[in-house]
Amino acid sequence: MVATSSGRDGWSSRTGFVLAAVGAAVGLGNLVRFPAEAAANGGGAFVLFYIFCILLIGLPIMLSETLIGRHGQASATESVKKMAAESKASSAWTSLAGLGVLSAFMILAFYCVIGGWVLYYIGIFVSDLFQSGVTGGALVGMTPDDIKAIFPGLLENGGLMAGLDAVFILVTVYFVARGVSGGIEVASVWLMPAFFVLLLGITIYGAFGGAFSEAVTYLFTVDFSKLTGPVMLAAIGQAFFSLSLGVAGMMTYGSYVGRDVNLAKTSTMISFADTSVALIAGLCIFPIVFAAGLSSEGGLGLMFDVLPHAFQSMPAGSLIGLAFFVMVGFAALTSSVSLMEVPTAWAMGKFGLSRHKAAGIVASLALVLGIASAYSFNAISGFHPLGFIPLFEGQGVFDALDSVTAKLFMPIGALLTAIFVGWVADRRLIDSENGLTGGLHQFWRFLVRWLCPLALTAILIVGIFPSVLGG
Ligand code: TRP
Repeated sequence: MVATSSGRDGWSSRTGFVLAAVGAAVGLGNLVRFPAEAAANGGGAFVLFYIFCILLIGLPIMLSETLIGRHGQASATESVKKMAAESKASSAWTSLAGLGVLSAFMILAFYCVIGGWVLYYIGIFVSDLFQSGVTGGALVGMTPDDIKAIFPGLLENGGLMAGLDAVFILVTVYFVARGVSGGIEVASVWLMPAFFVLLLGITIYGAFGGAFSEAVTYLFTVDFSKLTGPVMLAAIGQAFFSLSLGVAGMMTYGSYVGRDVNLAKTSTMISFADTSVALIAGLCIFPIVFAAGLSSEGGLGLMFDVLPHAFQSMPAGSLIGLAFFVMVGFAALTSSVSLMEVPTAWAMGKFGLSRHKAAGIVASLALVLGIASAYSFNAISGFHPLGFIPLFEGQGVFDALDSVTAKLFMPIGALLTAIFVGWVADRRLIDSENGLTGGLHQFWRFLVRWLCPLALTAILIVGIFPSVLGG
């Protein structure tokens, strides 16, 4: 265990922090959600605007969140409380972190269900490797209809999903319970480099055998007529999810950072790595999909339905399919660890619990909610917990957790963070933490005070009233 200046457990080095934060940021959001959103929103225009959002909105908020945590050296709620008190502001601002802790818990619950699906596909490709061999395509002997039935078949099986969810949560809690430097950092320091090697390997392999130039054209040819309101909002929302913002996650990770670290630099490194992975993931997935002559449908189907088809016709498809889902599993795990750490750190601070107890309780509660999510695809699909709110009408537990956090809690959390750092907190505190000087400092301040709140308000309004954009 490495202690920070305040005597708490903390990252062993700046590299440890950056890798853990990259691990938190790089996850299913980059590998599943980004390519699917790009596909659903017309390719290049979405991608270009997404990069703008990362630079002008995501990056300033990432810096804001990490500096609150680093200043507080405590759980997200206590850090905000401390900064509010030192700025002579109302302690009600603490609720912004409280909302974040709740959102992180809710995301954790459904995220681990998807983690369980990834385990299932790892299982499929392991057994396929034995049956189909290394050199041929994957899933030989299965008709397209058989392959198409895999994913719906899984969604029908609530018990299997719940069991896989439990396994994924167990692995997650193992790392969280071992602490910041001894568990979370260890996971990232080993898994992230392995992840990068797999991602680059599969991308290069796909570039030779697949439709690489078609994918490049698809992702990077910008047709500005496609840059509509809904596309822009999808890009902002994706930027936030991908950088893990708006749920107090980066506040929590920031609280384990030493005083000597320049947070502006680390935020830039983390955002750069996350965006690169999203773009490379696009260049990894689309060539494989296009080479198999499949269309790039959006949604979860891209990964769990389209890709298995594509691996079937690919040389060494079983091996590549297995490597692919192992890689997704690594990325998902370091993200679920970050999501679990937020409520765990909160419970430790709030109730004085040991890390083991806090993590165990959070994991058990996440499992309960995860089981409900797993069965919301089948046995209890008719149960719509928030059905009385028009925005969430007809959504089961899984979908409701996803949309409440994505449409409401995350933008609200990020909006409050921007207002708090830009307008409420004492300027001297902020200036001494952010690692910026001169013109860049002015620019960052402008973004946090004006552009971020405006953009986030727009996301919120359109999220709540989709008809504003005629959608
Ligand atoms: N950013 C992760 C991804 O891309 C998901 C994630 C981890 C997350 N921690 C978060 C999302 C906190 C929002 C908030 O998959």
